[in-house]
Amino acid sequence: MTIQTVGIIGAGQMGGGIAHVCALAGYKVFLHDISPDRIETGIATINGNMARQVTSGKLGEKERSDAMGRIAGAETLADLATCDLVIEAATEDETVKRKIFAQLCPTLNPEAMLATNTSSISITRLAAQTDRPERFIGIHFMNPVPVMKLVEVVRGIATEDVTFEAAKAFVTRLDKTITVAEDFPAFIVNRILLPMINEAIYTLYEGVGSVEAIDTAMKLGANHPMGPLQLADFIGLDTCLSIMQVLYDGLADSKYRPCPLLVKYVEAGWLGRKAGRGFYDYR
Ligand code: CAA
Repeated sequence: MTIQTVGIIGAGQMGGGIAHVCALAGYKVFLHDISPDRIETGIATINGNMARQVTSGKLGEKERSDAMGRIAGAETLADLATCDLVIEAATEDETVKRKIFAQLCPTLNPEAMLATNTSSISITRLAAQTDRPERFIGIHFMNPVPVMKLVEVVRGIATEDVTFEAAKAFVTRLDKTITVAEDFPAFIVNRILLPMINEAIYTLYEGVGSVEAIDTAMKLGANHPMGPLQLADFIGLDTCLSIMQVLYDGLADSKYRPCPLLVKYVEAGWLGRKAGRGFYDYR
């Protein structure tokens, strides 16, 4: 299974980051989102992030311009018809993902591989909603994608060996390190990271410490590069809540109960950095 052309659904921080590393690795990339504006903003952000890498000496100017030349916008899902691999990196909402697969599959090359960047949802269940469960796999990148070395690869029950091997070869070409996780709620990274973030939010909710105290404690006391509340804002509080809900529903243990303060922030639309407001004010 040779992958040359990659389609990416979702031009936000994850989809854009995936497009960034794919283009730098030499893949032709088609980037899709629900509006031309979002695609344009996504491509401009990738360009800005690559320019930052040029300024810091991590990338040559020619590498940047060649990589940018490999990224094209795809206004419709049908524009992804010729891709060898399509990676879904849309909102962490199963209904949204299901609708995308229903629209995408009939136009997609029957031989193409389909992957999801879901942070938590069952790969087996998502695969079953497509016409190709044997060619479906979880390829889960970390944010910010160009910087973070890890990618989790997760097989569904029906994923064939050839798909698994092709996914591992693809991730290796991106110069990332693979961990293989079994298909359980939130896999490895988020199974461990999100309960820690949720606990930090409980710590705030119960008045144990202020936002600044909690983040400073974990940055200086546990050497985390970002405090858990800053990281929650960075990931997006809606995504954090979705992952906690998947853990709570899937593992049926009260230790995964989303903190009511997290629920309240999401209800208020205080979704973190992307919304201008979360535990911190970015306006
Ligand atoms: N694209 C390209 N380069 C980027 C970038 C991006 N989007 N974001 C940051 N960088 C680069 C910067 O240019 C900088 O490069 P130089 O060292 O060459 O100057 C470098 O990364 C460090 O960035 P900054 O100096 O701006 O800031 P920093 O030192 O505080 O690092 C950070 C930023 C890398 C994000 C760091 O704070 C960190 O590692 N935070 C934790 C991130 C984390 O835990 N991610 C996982 C989230 S969980 C997840 O993703 C799973 C999920 O499903 C929810």
